[in-house]
Parts: sequence; structure tokens; C-alpha cells
Amino acid sequence: MSENRVQFATRLGVIATTVGSAVGLGNIWRFPFEAGAHGGGAFLIIDLFFIFIVGIPVVCAEFVIGRHTGSNVRGAFRRLAPGKAWGVVGYIGLLASVLILSFYSVVAGWTLEYIYRSVVGFGGVESVEGLHSQFDAFATSDWRPLMWTLVFLGLNYFILSRGVQKGIERMSNIMMPLLFVILIVFCVNSLMMPAAAEGLEFLFKPDFSKVTPTVMLSAMGQAFFSLSLGLGCLITYSSYFKRDTHLVRTAGVMASLDTLVAVLAGIIIFSAVFTFGMEPAAGPKLVFEILPSIFSRMPGAVIWSTLFFVLLMLASLSSTISMSEISIAYLTDEFGMGRRKATILNIGVAMLLGSLCALSFGALSDWTICGMTVFNFFDYVSSNILLPIGGMVISIFVGWVLKRGIVNEELGAGSGISRVIVSLIVVCLRYVAPLCIALVFLFGLGIF
Ligand code: TRP
Repeated sequence: MSENRVQFATRLGVIATTVGSAVGLGNIWRFPFEAGAHGGGAFLIIDLFFIFIVGIPVVCAEFVIGRHTGSNVRGAFRRLAPGKAWGVVGYIGLLASVLILSFYSVVAGWTLEYIYRSVVGFGGVESVEGLHSQFDAFATSDWRPLMWTLVFLGLNYFILSRGVQKGIERMSNIMMPLLFVILIVFCVNSLMMPAAAEGLEFLFKPDFSKVTPTVMLSAMGQAFFSLSLGLGCLITYSSYFKRDTHLVRTAGVMASLDTLVAVLAGIIIFSAVFTFGMEPAAGPKLVFEILPSIFSRMPGAVIWSTLFFVLLMLASLSSTISMSEISIAYLTDEFGMGRRKATILNIGVAMLLGSLCALSFGALSDWTICGMTVFNFFDYVSSNILLPIGGMVISIFVGWVLKRGIVNEELGAGSGISRVIVSLIVVCLRYVAPLCIALVFLFGLGIF
């Protein structure tokens, strides 16, 4: 490990930044609409299965690589397997992280518009139908979504250019605890709604007749996306961990809190969906149409609504900075580029691609790639293809190629963790994860 690499200063910082990366639109926006479209409870159970059987072991694998080498994605593989093709996964990570950053920033930009609308009280509109047409009119318009995408990426620049400790860590330490408090308050509120029971039934009672290979693929994509897996995002963050950071415990805490947030978001949204007689499969706009309508029925609507969208925006921000950090660490480590310059380059590319995604609901809605708009194409390719491939390569690499001594030492270091757990993780990495990923992938893409 390089002697003078920056590190996260505190233990809280390690948890807050990794949970900050994991918790974001993936939990609060993507999970509810994916679950809504794919059978609710059945989707949740398959998602949980992938999180615990495949997700946590692969998180550990990324941590082992990152902490052991103290290096960016590309550099890490070069050190561990010089001259071998494994390093390709580094390039996949760099590409996919920019694609994700681009479409993710569009949705994060929507949260900025909704902060503004919350403050002005949504022009007095309260009904779900009214909010529905408002959202449609906004998302399909041109300059506002575009402007907010660029503003959001500008915020990223502001945090990232301050560096790892002063920017990323400090911001996460403040934001993450706040996010949990506010989610719990919203959850209690939703549970008191008239049709909360129906919502809970939808979310927790699995109907396995709804399970198809496509649902499996989406649930696996969701698990990977939500845990920030497969691109080396966690390799990059763990390169800032100290020697005494307990990797397995950090992975467990991160996966548990990440799942908890998704479930809380599910409870909040589905209680409301059934109370207002909406369609759980309404898709990506679910959060933006239903929540404002709930807020408008609460005392202090302006405050709640503003608070919620501010927190959603901040949760997105702590995730996007982790995506950008992949490229920034790469550019600064490998090319000796200054941090500011690297940040400008990364954010600049994201601004270009993000603009295409922002316009793909309106002016560019006819531009399709493989029958998908640019926005949907970026999402599909990165979440359903590049993430699983990256995850598979990482698990095979750590399970089969990396010296067992390194894995034992990193996972066991300073933790007193039992050998049995380390062995279980290795078994998952060697057999379970690659097999699950390969099967789901081939079935889901219809290759079988
Ligand atoms: N996990 C984040 C979310 O749920 C998104 C994210 C951050 C991500 N970093 C990533 C997804 C790296 C894939 C890879 O919102």
C-alpha cells in the first residue's frame, strides 16, 4: 500500500461513506418501482437472497482488493495480477460508472426541481392526477431537467474537489444519520394511513407466480446496484480504509442498513400507493407523484416535502460522489493528474452524457438504441449487464486467483473473525456467486 495515501479519518467515517455510497436513489426511488413492477414481496425476497448470498461476499471481495492494494481499480488489478487480462474489469468499472453517473444525475436533478416545487407548494396542486400531469410536463420539457442535471453535477464537483476527508467523509457523516431519522418519521406516518395494511401485504407477501427469469435478473441487478457493486466503487473507497477497519463487519453493516432503507422506502411508498388507489407498477415516477400528494395532507406540508427532497438529493449526492471517485482515483493515481483537474474531466464527461439522458424524455425521446431511450439504455446496460459481469469477475478473481493468505489476512485482520466465516465467504465467491450470476444473466437475457 502506498505510504501516504489519504484515509478516512474515523470509524464512523468508514460506515457513513460506504453506507452513503450504497444508500441513494437505488433504495428510495428504484427499489419501490422495481418491486412494484415485479410482484412486490416476491421481488423483495429474491433481492434479499442476492444481497446476502452474492452481495455481501462480493462486497468483501472488493474490500479485500481495495484495502490490500491501496489503489484505484486499474492499479489494484495491475498490482495483484500484473500483465494479466483481469485488469479489464477496471475499465468496465470506469465505463459503467460514468454511464450510471449520467442517468443517475438526471433523476437527482428531478429532486432539485422538487425541492423548489415543495417550497412553492406545488402551485396548490394536491391530487395524484394533478401531480402526475405536473411531473409529465416537467420531465418531458427540455431546459429545466437539463439545467437541474447540470446543477446537480456542479454540486458533485464542489464536494469532490475538496478531497476525500474534507469533502466526501465530512458530508457523509452529517447526512447519513439525518437521512435515517427522517425516513423513520415518514415511515410511522405512512403506517397510519388507511390502506397501510394492503401496502405491507404487497411488499411482504410473496406471490411466486410472478417470478420469471426477467424478475430474477432485475432483482439481481437491483441488489448489485443498491450495494454499489461490480464497478470497483468499493475497491476505491476501501483503498482509503485503515489497516484496523474490520472488513466483514463493515460489509454486513453496510448491506443491512442499505436493505433497511429500501424496506422503509417500500413501506412509505406502498402504504400510500394503496391508500390513494394508485398503480404499484407506475414506474420511475412513483416517488415524484405519490409523495408530494401524501405531504400535502400532512400538517406543515411545505417543511416535510422540502425536507424529504433535500434528503433524497443528499442521499443521491453521497452515491454519485462514490461513482466519480472511481475515475478520480484512477486519473490521479495512474496519470498523476491533480485532483481538481481529474474532477473536472469526470464531471465534464458526465455533463455531456447526462444532457443526452435528461433530454431523452423530451426532445430526444425518438433517439433510441436497441429500442430504448438513451436514459433507459444506460440504465439497462450498466445495471443488468456491466454490473453483473464486473461482480462475477471480481468474485472469481478473489475466490480463485488471489492468494488465500491475502484473503484470510484481510478479512481476518484485527477482527478476531472466525475462520469458518472467512471460509464461507470464500465458498460463496468461488462457487455460489459466479454460478448464480451466470445463470441469472443467461436466463434473464434470454440466451437460454
Ligand atoms: N448504490 C447507489 C444507490 O443505490 C448507487 C451507486 C453508487 C452505484 N455507486 C455505485 C451503483 C457503483 C453501482 C455501482 O443509489
